[in-house]
Amino acid sequence: MALWAGRFSKEIDAGVNAFNSSIAFDARMYRHDIQGSIAHATMLGDCGIITKEDSQTLIAGLQEILADIDAGRLEFDPNAEDIHMFIEAELTKRLGDVGKRLHTSRSRNDQVALDLRLYLRDEIAEIRTLVETLCKALVKLAEQHTETVLPGYTHLQRAQPVTFAHHLLAYVQMFLRDLGRLDDTAKRMNECPLGSGALAGTTYHIDRQQTAQLLGFDAPMANSLDGVSDRDYCIELANNLSIIMMHLSRFSEEIILWCSWEFKFIELDDAFATGSSIMPQKKNPDITELIRGKTGRVYGDLMTLLTMMKGLPLAYNKDMQEDKEAIFDAVDNVKLCLETFIPMLETMRVLKENMRAAAAKGFINATDCADYLVKKGMPFRDAYKISGTLVAQCIEQGLTLETLPLEAYQKMTPLFTEDVYEAISLETCVKGRVSEGGPSPAAVAKQLALVKAKLGME
Ligand code: ARG
Repeated sequence: MALWAGRFSKEIDAGVNAFNSSIAFDARMYRHDIQGSIAHATMLGDCGIITKEDSQTLIAGLQEILADIDAGRLEFDPNAEDIHMFIEAELTKRLGDVGKRLHTSRSRNDQVALDLRLYLRDEIAEIRTLVETLCKALVKLAEQHTETVLPGYTHLQRAQPVTFAHHLLAYVQMFLRDLGRLDDTAKRMNECPLGSGALAGTTYHIDRQQTAQLLGFDAPMANSLDGVSDRDYCIELANNLSIIMMHLSRFSEEIILWCSWEFKFIELDDAFATGSSIMPQKKNPDITELIRGKTGRVYGDLMTLLTMMKGLPLAYNKDMQEDKEAIFDAVDNVKLCLETFIPMLETMRVLKENMRAAAAKGFINATDCADYLVKKGMPFRDAYKISGTLVAQCIEQGLTLETLPLEAYQKMTPLFTEDVYEAISLETCVKGRVSEGGPSPAAVAKQLALVKAKLGME
């Protein structure tokens, strides 16, 4: 019989029960549900709402259930409506009447609001660690490539020279902001909904400060209607996760390009690539493509949550049960992507010579050629035009600025002398970009130091 058998004269239709049930996806919160119930039972005992003895019996019973589930001795009943009902029913099965006292002054709306916060708090901590690990892996790789020159691109056209370290550190900045966003969300959501009741609090003199404290929250939530119906934190988290995926996806797209024959800037380790069933020559970057693909589904999870909430009157509505599959999917996939991406990155081979060869083509020193004239007194716009004309001549003759003869330069302006070759060499072009945040090894050394301090490295 259902827990609400008093009001009902019939059992629920089996199909409806299956449709209504969330245990298939909320069972993963069992630990947090029990943790919340233990805090609740402790408080009920301390406040004299139930006897100390009953409180202790309940706590011991809950701990046993936890141990049994952990050890695989207790299986979830797929017919239970949700994890909250399942654990309460199991407790009553084991303890009899005492078990029935646990739900005094509490609602499932309370429970689900609490459990999800507790669950996601732990997940955020795990994701945080993974993002941090990724940043550290990027820093380590960057440290080996402060002199590795490759073209920087705009419009995917070779633009100006940068170093691989500089390129990698751009991603570190993105992921550091992701960490900041996770921290902000974790801080904002760390208030305890327990004690909101179904929606309107309770007539019992409960101690919400105590339960909040026992469960590691900063404070109880201030309004019971909000307590049971706020899912902002899920949306914030899904947003943060979407941005993490967007960053991973951009990076993945670059890796996909870099391991194509057209670029060949990197080679993936054999353990992190796949072959083709028909084309023997193939080595495919499946991991990065899947990450790029999964980004769409995490965005979808965010849209699910936003849309699910937008029309809901206060307070709890059953629509909210849909929050879990969406946010769990987002959390699971981000973890999976990070866990796979990090070792792939750590094992890939960086093909420096190919990066350098690409940098040597594409006239990425054309700006430097113009700047050379500017340093000799010519206005930038005139210098820009001359440099552009020289590039056009090179293209016509199959040359580069490095191989164009001095006479060709001097035909444009006598300001050009032999030292132009030194000024437009890739090394000079990179080393010269000394501005703060730029790619010169000196500027990158400063970036590295700042990032390492933020990550607590060394
Ligand atoms: N399974 C429900 C959910 O996930 C728990 C809360 C149900 N409350 C209710 N009054 N039906 O949202």
